[in-house]
Amino acid sequence: MTDQRTIVWHPSKITKEDRHRLNGHRGAVLWFTGLSGAGKSTLSVALESELYKYKVHSYVLDGDNIRLGLNNNLGFSPSERRENIRRVGEIAKLFADAGFLALSALISPYRKDRDMVRARFDSDEFIEIYVKCSLVECERRDPKGLYKRARRGEISEFTGISAPYEEPLSSELIIETDKMTVEASVKQIIDYLKKRKLI
Ligand code: ADX
Repeated sequence: MTDQRTIVWHPSKITKEDRHRLNGHRGAVLWFTGLSGAGKSTLSVALESELYKYKVHSYVLDGDNIRLGLNNNLGFSPSERRENIRRVGEIAKLFADAGFLALSALISPYRKDRDMVRARFDSDEFIEIYVKCSLVECERRDPKGLYKRARRGEISEFTGISAPYEEPLSSELIIETDKMTVEASVKQIIDYLKKRKLI
């Protein structure tokens, strides 16, 4: 790790307000968290399309996608998940600084890891969205066949089966994907963003 005492933050001349004016909206991160198969990716991609219609600059940071590139050296132990989340949190922060809405879709199963990311943001720029769905339903959906493999013991430390998922205690939003359609869920988030004057 770099000796932080030898590094100095170099500020930009463009302010947050400048970017706000240019983009027509503020920057922030929507941090989706929930079990594999709960609908984080589906929901974030559907939201991204809806935000496009509103001319809001947004970008999905999807766990699987980022693990195919930047984070392809990380596995699923608690410390590797923490590093995964830390890196994505830092990318999300850059997007938010650039005036974008970053939509992060990681399981991010540990409360302290999510709170580590939250602490990097101003309080009005970090919105945790708990994508809530029962394990029974996630396992029934099993879109990638991973639960089946985890039950057979072929995948270790699988969230919900052999590794924990710590539910958020005070997320800004809860979306219950086993009770609502994708469209209704997107609408709930859009309404929230309008209420908070983020879009
Ligand atoms: S996180 O825990 O570090 O936040 P992340 O969201 O990046 O996880 O990646 C989760 C995805 O990786 C799952 O949707 C699944 O496709 C895949 N995966 C592979 N092995 C595991 C595992 N042991 N636990 C959870 N997900 C896994």
